[in-house]
Amino acid sequence: MLNSFRRLAFYALALAACNSELTLADEPIHIKFSHVVAENTPKGQGALLFKSLVEERLAGKVQVEVYPNSSLYGDADELEALRNNQVQLLAPSLAKFEQYTKQLQVFDLPFLFDDIGAVNRFQKRAKGRQLLRSMEDHNIVGLAYWHNGMKQLSANRTLILPSDASGLNFRIQPSAVLEAQFAKLGATTQKLPFSETFRALQSGHVQGAENPWSNIHSQKLHEVQPYISETNHGVLDYMLVSNPRFWYSIPHQIRTQLESIIDEVTFAVNKQAEADNQRDRQRIIESGQSKVISLTPEQRQAWREAMRPVWQQFEGVIGEDIIKAAEIVNRKKRS
Ligand code: LMR
Repeated sequence: MLNSFRRLAFYALALAACNSELTLADEPIHIKFSHVVAENTPKGQGALLFKSLVEERLAGKVQVEVYPNSSLYGDADELEALRNNQVQLLAPSLAKFEQYTKQLQVFDLPFLFDDIGAVNRFQKRAKGRQLLRSMEDHNIVGLAYWHNGMKQLSANRTLILPSDASGLNFRIQPSAVLEAQFAKLGATTQKLPFSETFRALQSGHVQGAENPWSNIHSQKLHEVQPYISETNHGVLDYMLVSNPRFWYSIPHQIRTQLESIIDEVTFAVNKQAEADNQRDRQRIIESGQSKVISLTPEQRQAWREAMRPVWQQFEGVIGEDIIKAAEIVNRKKRS
């Protein structure tokens, strides 16, 4: 008697669970994906590809709205909006998570990665994967890394040697590492949202910046920065993030499909990003609006030597093990 009562109770619970899954699945899940860049950039294209694959494969189950160019949330409030579930997907630059984890600052260290291939290898290895989970206590879960590319230095005067940057005020992302990097050059910095960068450069409020080619071109920064030095001194990459309460509330089967779409989009973004940056580099050169300066190996080495002491300064906060794990992904031995 007791056993059949238990069995009945079990079936009732199972049915209730099943019903709630059905109800959840009946109502389309809404995902707002907000970002701060233009649509013709690696991140902008990734967001659109995600939307179109979801609409194709999860029609009626999941709806995605993409808000580019800080049109819904900008740098100042997007992470707070994600944590409060006002938006469900973001892909901020890795320099923008400082208040939630210091470990991701490894990506801001100048001259740590030789190229985007090295960045890719680090992100795929154990330490890189672990960092995706480093902010769960703050209600942020990393789903993937997306590339943009290596940063170039631009200014209102030619930057050939590190001493040329002395006395200039640079716009930076909100990162203590980037602040320290410019301090090593005798320059000052201003942490400004991406959406304010063009205006700050145009008005002369700041005189320099560091960006990958695709961000320079899509924001027309080359129209207000007459010189761009091809330094490739650091990386600007993204973490695709959601908030775990939302993400893990998605019914398992749908979440698995979303995760496989994310894998596909990540592969596409990361394959295409370098080509997009090279295309935009070429467009900038052809525009004739900014002079692109190539550095000799000796000149680039001088920038490396000037900026490199930043590593030591941040070793304690980032973690020596993380920096070491990043350093060994470079194929070539550096001097
Ligand atoms: C910046 O603020 O310079 C970048 O993080 C913008 C972006 O998302 O690429």
